[in-house]
Amino acid sequence: MFMKRFDKKELEVVKQIIENGEYLSGFTTTFRGGENVQKFEKDFARFIGVKYAISVNSGTAALLISFKAIMEYALSQNKKKFKNPNIHLPACTFTADPSAALMAGGKIIFEDINKKTFCMTPPKSKSMISVPTYLLGNANGSDNFKKADFLIEDCCQALGTEINGKKVGSFGDLSIFSFQETKHITTLGEGGMICSNNEELIDIIAGIRNHAEFYSGKKFLGGNFRMTEIQAAFGIVQLKKIKKILKLFRKNAQFVIKNLPSGISAPHTPSNVNNSFLVIGCLYNEKEIGASRANFLEKLTQNRSHILKKDKKSDIKGINMKSGKLISTGYSSPLYEIPMYKKFKPKNGCPNAKKFTEVSLWMDIHKFRPHDEIKEELEILTKTINQFKK
Ligand SMILES: Cc1ncc(COP(=O)(O)O)c(C=O)c1O
Repeated sequence: MFMKRFDKKELEVVKQIIENGEYLSGFTTTFRGGENVQKFEKDFARFIGVKYAISVNSGTAALLISFKAIMEYALSQNKKKFKNPNIHLPACTFTADPSAALMAGGKIIFEDINKKTFCMTPPKSKSMISVPTYLLGNANGSDNFKKADFLIEDCCQALGTEINGKKVGSFGDLSIFSFQETKHITTLGEGGMICSNNEELIDIIAGIRNHAEFYSGKKFLGGNFRMTEIQAAFGIVQLKKIKKILKLFRKNAQFVIKNLPSGISAPHTPSNVNNSFLVIGCLYNEKEIGASRANFLEKLTQNRSHILKKDKKSDIKGINMKSGKLISTGYSSPLYEIPMYKKFKPKNGCPNAKKFTEVSLWMDIHKFRPHDEIKEELEILTKTINQFKK
């Protein structure tokens, strides 16, 4: 099965809006978005299985707004400790989680990850705000975050992942999504969504999205985190294809996993989880292959150079992000080793997260690619390993 990421349908809706000239309709004191923004939100909420969805202009914005909204909501109920809340995050996730937590005025507590799923293990004590990330599309398979006053599910990498047949993003007080271009669906490169069943939280979120203090006289500050009509219209078309997209990700990922050469092991997905496989997070076995991961990747890049040459390089640390033909080491260290977060390092570190960053091999080779290209990638992987094995 092969599908192109975009087709005429996306182009048509974009063209229509350019011609109509309604780029951001509904921009009023009670901004709830233009026609397309509102429809995208309604369709998205239905897909996830929640009452409400509010679109924003990135997953990072969704995080920042979510923290701010929870703090505002809790403080309005006189819960004073929410002025600088403790925010529990996995030590292995994207930097947007801790940076947004700090920008919102929170304090970070890094938690370790599960060895097999790579997702955050639940905090041992009751947490004020917990933000488990469904890393690379996987999940732990248990709804074990109940100990949090507030749960924000970070679903940026896991659109369509299910636990016991229920979509992730429907379990928390809030859940956040990204439509940045490397994700399952995109709203023209950037975009995000916040979902919830809590109407009061959603009202605060809608206010923060659109200058709450100015347009609606609220007692808290907002900003401009709005999604445009063109992005939303694009998103509506993308979401219509989501079943096909998820089927493609899963089918291709299963093919890759089944045919992985010995020395590279597949991620573990619990039996009650339907992984959406944004990236296939494998583990590299240095002993078995007989070469360091760095040496292996160097040789692999040489062997794949004819594939990589076909694409324009992105400037993100020299990684070819745009093509989706990536095989990389993933996150380079647990977050607490990054200078900005060093002071939040837990006393004994997070050993599973540390180990994961040392041996993981992230593969994007299953995304929107024809079967023969995926097969070729696997053959190159096997060939490269054989060059090292004695
Ligand atoms: C787990 C996680 N959270 C948050 C984000 C931030 O999303 P965005 O890039 O749309 O700001 C990302 C993006 O990759 C992510 O992977």
